[in-house]
Amino acid sequence: MIPKAELHCHLEGSIPPVLARELATRNGLELPAGLFGADGFYAWTDFWSFLKAYDRVCTTLRQPRDFGAVLYSYLAGAAAEGAVYVEMFCSPERPAALGIPYSAWLDALEQAIDRARRDFGIEGRIIVICIRHLGPDKALSMVQQMVAEPHHYVVGFGMGGDEAQFTPADFAPAYRLAHDKGYGCTVHAGEVLGPESVWAAIRDLPVTRIGHGVRSADDPRLMEELARRGIVLEVCPGSNIALGLYPDRAAHPLHRLIAAGVRVTLNSDDPPFFHTTLGNEYDQAGLGERELRGIARTAIEASFADAAVKERLLREIGP
Ligand code: ADE
Ligand code: ZN
Repeated sequence: MIPKAELHCHLEGSIPPVLARELATRNGLELPAGLFGADGFYAWTDFWSFLKAYDRVCTTLRQPRDFGAVLYSYLAGAAAEGAVYVEMFCSPERPAALGIPYSAWLDALEQAIDRARRDFGIEGRIIVICIRHLGPDKALSMVQQMVAEPHHYVVGFGMGGDEAQFTPADFAPAYRLAHDKGYGCTVHAGEVLGPESVWAAIRDLPVTRIGHGVRSADDPRLMEELARRGIVLEVCPGSNIALGLYPDRAAHPLHRLIAAGVRVTLNSDDPPFFHTTLGNEYDQAGLGERELRGIARTAIEASFADAAVKERLLREIGP
């Protein structure tokens, strides 16, 4: 099995329907109306309804151990597909709304990572992620908390949500604080919007990675700039196709980005929503074993883990 590593997966977006049902039962909750379609999968039709469905799934999370159960379950599945490392996007938004202290939430995530390492040999780390459409003030206070209460598994800061709202510059104070305190930074851009969104992100934010960034392929100068600066794209082809950015894998720009010298990784984003997994993304990429190992190596190199962890994982992946 080809070793794999993942940099772009959302904790709440990784909950399979069966686990959502279990969480609801465990917490004595009715499943939110409209959560599932007739096929038993999450029901959504476009980007906004996807974000709404995502929020509905989140309502099944109530206690710290629920967040831990989701992370452990994801790491177990990823390890079974050959993953040696997963950096998970975790939003403190939901635990905060539930009145769960930040430290109790992180404790649960830490236990999940430790247990998964012990049981499956997989390494995990956490990226704290803010939600763009909730605005820059929320983002800044989130980073202030992250730096005030450091945790050895929290290695980076990122932003998802509706790319069409606010500008990267609006979030520069939050990103500057995270960067100055030594956290790696990434941002969703060039997914829903075009190349100008990626240009703004790499101009105004201290990011070494871009979440998605696939629309960069519409602009040869941008691809050149990304290649020159070694900025790594967290590419999620299955997600892009499910959300209708591209009709199919043949039309997806993954190969064009690689040909232009842009450093890319393969990721699942919100796997059960998009009927994919990390293993499926590697299988469906249309690349050979050498290239896929190279992609796993790029993911480790671009990860925000410390140097010793990276060195160990690069050895595990091999040449
Ligand atoms: N949050 C979860 N998945 C996302 C995506 N694909 N784009 C933006 N925000 C997200
Ligand atoms: Zn994402």
